[in-house]
Amino acid sequence: MPNHRPFDGSRRALLGAGGAFALAAALRPWHVVAQTAGAKLPIGVIGSGRVGGTIGGLWVKAGHPVLFSSRHPDELKDMVGGLGPLAQAGTAAQAIAFGGALFVAVPYGALPQLGQEFGDALKNKIVLDACNAVAGRDGAPIAEEVEQNGIGITSQKYLAGARLVRAFNTLSYTIFAREANRADPKLAIPIAGDDAEAVRVAEELVRDAGFHPVLVGKLADARRFQRGAPGYGQSVSAAELKQKLSLPP
Ligand SMILES: NC(=O)c1ccc[n+]([C@@H]2O[C@H](COP(=O)([O-])OP(=O)(O)OC[C@H]3O[C@@H](n4cnc5c(N)ncnc54)[C@H](OP(=O)(O)O)[C@@H]3O)[C@@H](O)[C@H]2O)c1
Repeated sequence: MPNHRPFDGSRRALLGAGGAFALAAALRPWHVVAQTAGAKLPIGVIGSGRVGGTIGGLWVKAGHPVLFSSRHPDELKDMVGGLGPLAQAGTAAQAIAFGGALFVAVPYGALPQLGQEFGDALKNKIVLDACNAVAGRDGAPIAEEVEQNGIGITSQKYLAGARLVRAFNTLSYTIFAREANRADPKLAIPIAGDDAEAVRVAEELVRDAGFHPVLVGKLADARRFQRGAPGYGQSVSAAELKQKLSLPP
């Protein structure tokens, strides 16, 4: 997979803001944003790279205030500037505090550390988890754990207390960018989660990003669309995905 940043190849190249960027001044509390933006759910993105930047950008276009986070928030200034006033950059802690829902798109090997560092703040948060375990990048032990226990159960172990929904893990960010909001039938996005309210929110966010959510089941069922499984890599409509996974129409 090419090492592209969202939309145009480099988040640093997403121009449009111009001028100096003062991070502290740029962070706007949700109640202030809400007055000017209607009532779309604010979203905090953790891992604002290819997938986080792409899906977060689609939510901004749909009218969601999005706080993109990074360990180096200054590096996001051009990307958020290019996305307009609903987008802002900050730290992971700020994204967690800001988001009515969070989108996590970091290398899978970073999840244990994320859980340790932000465990308390993540409790009861709705978290859409797009992370895939790749042995070569994330280490063999965690990849084997995912293989053995399933990715939904493993993510929930590391992000204990979060209301987790697996989503947006099965296709390349280039496909997400290209196929979002296409004419019907929309591209299907398989999701899975144990928390009914979190699943409902995730379904809404998948729709807002321009896709068709397909609920595969509980977190234990997320293994049906993890890397190497039949539901992975399927660039198909909802009806086709349901058929492939023997889900009711
Ligand atoms: N690429 C795809 O098409 C695709 C599709 C579906 C799912 N996925 C999965 O989504 C996740 C992200 O993939 P990606 O391709 O978007 O990766 P990416 O472009 O490298 O972005 C990942 C981001 O995570 C942050 N990050 C890296 N290490 C971290 C750590 N130890 N702690 C906290 N943050 C860290 C980095 O942000 P900062 O350096 O700015 O902090 C980076 O921008 C992976 O698990 C991948 O398997 C990828």
